[in-house]
Amino acid sequence: MGIEQLVAVTRRLPRACEDRLAAHYQVRWGDDDVDYTPEVIGRFAENATAILVTPSERMDAAAIGALPGAVRVIASNSVGFEHIDLAAARSRGMRVTHTPGVLTDATADLALLLILAATRRAGEGERMVRDDRWQGIRPTAFLGSQITGKRLGIVGMGRIGAAVARRAQAFGMSVLYHNRTALAAADAGGATYVPTLQGLLSQADVLSLHCPLTEATQGMLNAEAIAALPKDAVVVNTARGGLVDDEALIAALRSGRLAAAGLDVYANEPRIDPRYRDLENIVLLPHIGSATLETRTAMGMLAIDNIAAVLSGQEPPNAVV
Ligand code: DGY
Repeated sequence: MGIEQLVAVTRRLPRACEDRLAAHYQVRWGDDDVDYTPEVIGRFAENATAILVTPSERMDAAAIGALPGAVRVIASNSVGFEHIDLAAARSRGMRVTHTPGVLTDATADLALLLILAATRRAGEGERMVRDDRWQGIRPTAFLGSQITGKRLGIVGMGRIGAAVARRAQAFGMSVLYHNRTALAAADAGGATYVPTLQGLLSQADVLSLHCPLTEATQGMLNAEAIAALPKDAVVVNTARGGLVDDEALIAALRSGRLAAAGLDVYANEPRIDPRYRDLENIVLLPHIGSATLETRTAMGMLAIDNIAAVLSGQEPPNAVV
C-alpha cells in the first residue's frame, strides 16, 4: 500500500473521503457528468490498481473486460451490486466490494418520507402551491389517507426493511413482511411473517419494496401482483427500479386502482419512463435514499476501507467477490 498506487474514482466523493484517499494514494478523479462506456472506463482506469465506482457505472462484462489487468478491486460506493457482472470480475481475478450497513437509516427515512408523501398527496400539493394554483383550505380538498392503523407490507425484511418497519410502527402502522424465510421473533420486532408474496400483497394497504434486484425479483411488481393489492393501496420503491413493471404501475395509477406511489429508483436511471411525469398521484425522487452527507461519507469511507484492505493484501471487510 502507498502513495505510489493509483486509485481511479469515477465520481466526486464527500470531502472527507477525497482527503483520505489523497493522503494515501495517487488518485484520478472522474467527472460527475461522464458517461462511462467500456472504452471510457478502460482508459480512465489506466495504470490503476483499484477503481471506485457507483451504481451509475454499468460494470458489465464489456466494461470489466476493458479494465487494465492491474486493477485488483472494484469497490462500489453502494450496497447494491447488480450493476457489476460478478462472474466477469471473478474471471479476471478482481475483487468486488460494496457498502452494507451504513445506509440503513438514511434509506429507511426516505421510504417513510415517500410513504407519507404519497398517502398525503404532498407532491401534488407542493406543485399546486409552487404554481400559484392554491385557492385556500377546503374541507374536502387534498384528502389523503391516514397511515395510523394501516397495514404496511414489506418485501425483503433485511436491514433496511426492518428499519422501515420500526419507523412505521412508531407511526401506528401494523407491519407484515415477506422473505424467503421468517426472521427470529427477536429480529422481526413485532412484524408478522407472511410466507407467500401473494398473501402479503393481499393485506398491504401500503407496500414497500426492499429486496435486491435479481433474475427472480425482476419485474415482481407486475399487473398480477398489483391486482392482488387492496384497492387504493399505495406502493413505495426505494430499492431498485427493475423490481417494478412500469407499464403495470402506470396503468394502475392512471385507472385509480392504486391510490398513489412513491418512487426513488427506476429502471434505466436517469431516463425514467416519461409517462410517470404526467401522473399527479406519484411522488418522484432522484435516487436519493442514501443521500445525506453523513451516510455518503460513511459509504465512501467503507469503500476506501475495502480498497485499502485489498491493496495491502488483506481480506476486504465487505467482499462480494
Ligand atoms: C445503494 O447503495 O445501492 C443505493 O441505491 C445507492 O446509494
